[in-house]
Amino acid sequence: MNLQGYRGQVLHYIDESTPQYFADGILVIDQDSGTVQDCGKSDAVLQAHPGLNVKSYQNALIMPGLIDTHIHYPQVDVIASYGTQLLEWLNNYTFPTEMAFENPEVAEETAEFFLNELLKNGTTTALVFGTVHKGSVDAFFKASEKRNTRMICGKVMMDRNAPEDLCDTVETSVADTQALIDEWHGKGRQLYAITPRFAITSTPEQLAAAGKLLADNPGVYMQTHLAENKDEVAFVQELFPDSKSYLDVYDQFGLLGEHSIFAHCIYLEDGDYHRMNATGSKISFCPTSNLFIGSGLFRLDDQPAPVDVSVATDVGGGTSFSMLQTMNEAYKVCQLRGSNLSPQRAFYMMTLGNAAALSLDDKIGNFETGKEADFVVFDLACTDLMKRRQAICKNIDEILFSLMILGDDRAVTETFVAGQSVWRKTDEVMKVAGAH
Ligand code: GUN
Ligand code: ZN
Repeated sequence: MNLQGYRGQVLHYIDESTPQYFADGILVIDQDSGTVQDCGKSDAVLQAHPGLNVKSYQNALIMPGLIDTHIHYPQVDVIASYGTQLLEWLNNYTFPTEMAFENPEVAEETAEFFLNELLKNGTTTALVFGTVHKGSVDAFFKASEKRNTRMICGKVMMDRNAPEDLCDTVETSVADTQALIDEWHGKGRQLYAITPRFAITSTPEQLAAAGKLLADNPGVYMQTHLAENKDEVAFVQELFPDSKSYLDVYDQFGLLGEHSIFAHCIYLEDGDYHRMNATGSKISFCPTSNLFIGSGLFRLDDQPAPVDVSVATDVGGGTSFSMLQTMNEAYKVCQLRGSNLSPQRAFYMMTLGNAAALSLDDKIGNFETGKEADFVVFDLACTDLMKRRQAICKNIDEILFSLMILGDDRAVTETFVAGQSVWRKTDEVMKVAGAH
């Protein structure tokens, strides 16, 4: 073993209602295996590990790496596109941008940029859409494998209601998906998600094929969009007139379950919540996207039946890679719906909660001994305003709340993946300073 300690304030969650906070704590990792070995109050950890090598951070909060349960890597250049709602936004901005991923060089360059951007924001795991092109997912997993990040990704399946050049067929989508599963699912830290874009862009035959792929490949994920926008919901009803609801379309084709993650879910029927609850299906709440594309206000706290809700950026419908900024907007959505999203709940959701939604809480999401050592060091004095606001915080709840309201990528000092430093702000700052 090759132990290394990291000292600062340390916070993680044992479960939703059990935060473990050390005002002066040390996280101990084994750099050989890339796993957590210990976590506790500094004096106790130093006593337990005499001679431990320790790196200390000032004004720092050390937490498990953040997790994003819905994001599109090919939409880096779609971010901040003006003036439209979902269906027009897809046609005007998203489909033309995704067309370029037929070129592997575009895919490789974008995957590199995207992963760096995630790590810069403290996000170490994400559930990611590629494009319809098989090569887009190969490029993504190669870039992730290089960094040893735990990522879930899938090739979009879409065979109608999109430009012809961006459509596959039932046969090619099945062949490409199965080949990608065989090559990547469980290779190192990479995992696969079967990815029908949404009910509008798949024929019933393709949705049935997606359901069969899910049944035939135990352990893989399924990701799609659901009930994001009123015009979308109406179009789905036209395309599938016999379905009881939008969710029912996916249900008929065997796409619900514990490994199925549905983005948005703003306009569900009451019965859908019961069906999602009964099948263990998961929701991704995407606040910056829902506000930016004008989709609507998600019901976090008044669901007719409890469904597991994770939180996600949805870049490029979403406007920030930062999970802190995402929680800032989530807080405001809840305010408008008459509830309060507490900072402890928000930080639980970004870490262990999202890990549990992805059935990865046995591997990541907190600092239990043996977990994969993905973690982030926040800088609580990263701007003059943050420093001033943090200085008057009376407890950890206030520290967390001002971090999630005022913080973004500037608040990330360093990010670690499986025990290795993969992003360090000081390098960047020094690089910029050296240029002057
Ligand atoms: N619905 C179908 N495709 C998309 C997409 O790329 N982004 C969002 N936000 N919604 C979708
Ligand atoms: Zn999306």
